[in-house]
Amino acid sequence: MMRATLSMILAFLFFGACASLEAESKKSNTPNADATQTSSETSTSVEAEAPDPAAEASAIYASRCVGCHGSAGKGDGAAAASLSPKPRDYSNSVWQSSVTDSLLAKAIVGGGSAIGKSALMPANADLADKPLVVAELVKIIRGFAN
Ligand code: HEC
Repeated sequence: MMRATLSMILAFLFFGACASLEAESKKSNTPNADATQTSSETSTSVEAEAPDPAAEASAIYASRCVGCHGSAGKGDGAAAASLSPKPRDYSNSVWQSSVTDSLLAKAIVGGGSAIGKSALMPANADLADKPLVVAELVKIIRGFAN
């Protein structure tokens, strides 16, 4: 009886340790998430004074991307229901660490087909000569990470 209780306690301790390790590793997967959010917050406050890449990027995200990718990047925009494949959930930190910024930038400018993905992801050819805006769009996507 005592033995059984003791091993149950040990089992709980073990799983508890695993869970917190997992939480730690999730955090360390996305070291930039916090920094990204802070910088986009700062840029929103100067938006009224002068046009800047971060402000332009958030305006573009709101007008061109939200419909499919959703306001929190979860892939649940109004148009997403009818898409196949659906836009992925950008809060997924495992996926976040599996892709490079340059791959994301390439998809944004050239569309899904530019990176071997679905052409449902439209190209944004007008951003080809706006690398700073594209970089800020990539930061927005990174900022959705958990
Ligand atoms: C018509 C719907 C639609 C719009 C609008 C759209 N996307 Fe997408 N996007 C998709 C879909 C669907 C995929 C996934 C393609 C796949 O998995 O084959 C995708 C993929 C991507 C990818 C590639 C990374 C990945 O695998 O998810 C990036 C980066 C991206 N979108 C960013 C954006 C940005 C930024 C905008 C706005 C400028 C935007 N998208 C507008 C539907 C859309």
